[in-house]
Amino acid sequence: MTGPESVLADARILFGAPQGDVRELYDRAADRYEHFRELWLRIAGASAENAMLEEVGRRLQPGARVLDAGCGTGSLSRKLLELEPDLRLTLLDLSPAMLARAGDLPGEHLVGSVLDLPLPDASFDLVVSDWVIETVSDPIRAVQEYLRILTPGGTTIYTFCSLPQGFFSRAGSSWLRGAVTHGFAGRFLPAERTPWHDCGNSSRARFHGGLTTTVTLSTCCTVGPELTPTASDT
Ligand SMILES: C[S@@+](CC[C@H](N)C(=O)[O-])C[C@H]1O[C@@H](n2cnc3c(N)ncnc32)[C@H](O)[C@@H]1O
Repeated sequence: MTGPESVLADARILFGAPQGDVRELYDRAADRYEHFRELWLRIAGASAENAMLEEVGRRLQPGARVLDAGCGTGSLSRKLLELEPDLRLTLLDLSPAMLARAGDLPGEHLVGSVLDLPLPDASFDLVVSDWVIETVSDPIRAVQEYLRILTPGGTTIYTFCSLPQGFFSRAGSSWLRGAVTHGFAGRFLPAERTPWHDCGNSSRARFHGGLTTTVTLSTCCTVGPELTPTASDT
């Protein structure tokens, strides 16, 4: 779809639909999702996603068991397979329409929720989750689930939209936060809703004045809310 029709379709997704059921919203947005994803990466998301891919690249071993939690249309998994083609991939998403667009990718494809993963304890070496936890009702619970299914020594890496500190950053980003909230049921997580564990095995990087964040945690981590920014912030 191109031209005015395309602009209208975008506007309908971003501003026309009242925010409701997340699954239904993504089922409806699935056709246009990759277009928005590219736009989001260009506007704000690329730095956090690239930081995630760098972390992943340092850890991926041939044959690794990897869960792409909230995989959407599979864009991140495609990048993972470029880094390491020999992966045992599982793709999981709440929206059947989003997951269907990842149908060309190898591995197990599951419709399910990150809040209650239909997967056994200690069964994955790596859990990645790109722009997902800000769309769920309980982001801390989601990350607890990611940690539950990690094998000893495993890693979870997640990106999310974060609420920037300070009046000017918040005011400057309000239009973007509005678009993400209305179009994609995403919230910009404030510190008290941010899953985090401050220890020697965790790391966190913030970008665009705090608008996006990448977090890496290990199995030793017991995740809770981030109450205050710490010295380990980058
Ligand atoms: C902004 S998209 C990100 C998709 C993909 N990770 C990416 O980077 O393109 C958010 C995704 O999370 C999924 N999602 C929302 N709530 C979920 C839940 N509770 N469990 C699993 N997936 C969920 C949506 O269906 C959607 O595909």
